[in-house]
Amino acid sequence: MIYFDNSATTQPYPEVLDSFMKVSQRYFGNPSSLHSLGAEAEKLLSQSRKQAADLLGVRENEVFFTSGGTEGNNLAIKGAAVKHSKRGRHIISTAVEHPSVKEALEQIREELDFEITYLGVDEEGRISLEELVQALRPDTILVSIMHVNNETGTIQPIEEAGAILSKYPKVLFHVDHVQGAGKVRLDIQRCKIDLLTLSSHKVHGLKGNGILYIRNGVQISPLFAGGSQESRFRSGTENVAGIVAMARALRITMTDMDIKTEEIDRIRKRIRDGISSMDSVSMNTPSDGSAPHILNFSVPGINTEVVVRALQEREIFVSTTSACSSKKKASSSTVLAMFKDSRRADSTLRISLSSQNTMEEAEHFISAAEDILTNLREVMR
Ligand SMILES: Cc1ncc(COP(=O)(O)O)c(C=O)c1O
Repeated sequence: MIYFDNSATTQPYPEVLDSFMKVSQRYFGNPSSLHSLGAEAEKLLSQSRKQAADLLGVRENEVFFTSGGTEGNNLAIKGAAVKHSKRGRHIISTAVEHPSVKEALEQIREELDFEITYLGVDEEGRISLEELVQALRPDTILVSIMHVNNETGTIQPIEEAGAILSKYPKVLFHVDHVQGAGKVRLDIQRCKIDLLTLSSHKVHGLKGNGILYIRNGVQISPLFAGGSQESRFRSGTENVAGIVAMARALRITMTDMDIKTEEIDRIRKRIRDGISSMDSVSMNTPSDGSAPHILNFSVPGINTEVVVRALQEREIFVSTTSACSSKKKASSSTVLAMFKDSRRADSTLRISLSSQNTMEEAEHFISAAEDILTNLREVMR
């Protein structure tokens, strides 16, 4: 099998599964319990928090465990909106965010009477910093910009945006780092980020775990009220085994990260060269300023769902758009925002790699893709 759908999810590392099993069996106590079983679980929780904080270059008391990227993004956005709505009801984001950002914003627009400015992107999928400056208003309370786009891999200018926003101390800065984690370095402190979302299953951890970084002093309202876990930001008994597994996944992913991402980039370059030489293929992922693991291209006029199925018959797994859109037969909203071309946005294919992929897999994929596309064109003729 060749698994090229790592932006949808990654295969958990064996060590991650091992940690999950061990902690589930031996340390099943509730970390809030007073007895020793609870204390053991609580100790594991704080060790994991410290490990995650060290890896992210932040303080332990700035790491809050969540159920994943969707919750982290909702907590950051709705939590900021509810907490600061008396000060202002304007938020700035981009036209290419993941649905867990976009739909959260649309919900507060409809239900809490917020105004949302969506910054457009250029043909590389990048926002303009001048437009960001122009969009800021006295009633802006939050700016939410993703680090790495989940469909095309485009990297947004987070550090530059952070520098601009540092001149507006009342405006919170949220970054969806779900696709960037372990692939593109991001200095949370230097980028002046207030809130940052991570998801475990995108870095070979398990589904149902994530982190929201909340900078010390930043105030947001919780989505879940209850037993005051996670310093009241996120009530609910912690998934200790999943959290320990996540810290381990993050550690393995970030060990020798530069060497791993260089190799991933080499594999992607080979696929890019192989695909670019095929008939009527348009590359959507920019050649500069994109994360190493994602390659998105369009084959206008071809039903790419058929291509995905034909590749699957050869045990090669890729996707058309993002996993959440592909089942709805939606076209790529990111590619549409970039090129304003629905034919191009309707015919995308996304390859997404991890450090578990090899150059041989890339060669195998290129010849399979060439074969399938040639056959399809002949059938259509
Ligand atoms: C950029 C981005 N943000 C958020 C999410 C949601 O994360 P989760 O699947 O952990 O809810 C995803 C998942 O695909 C993503 O790619």
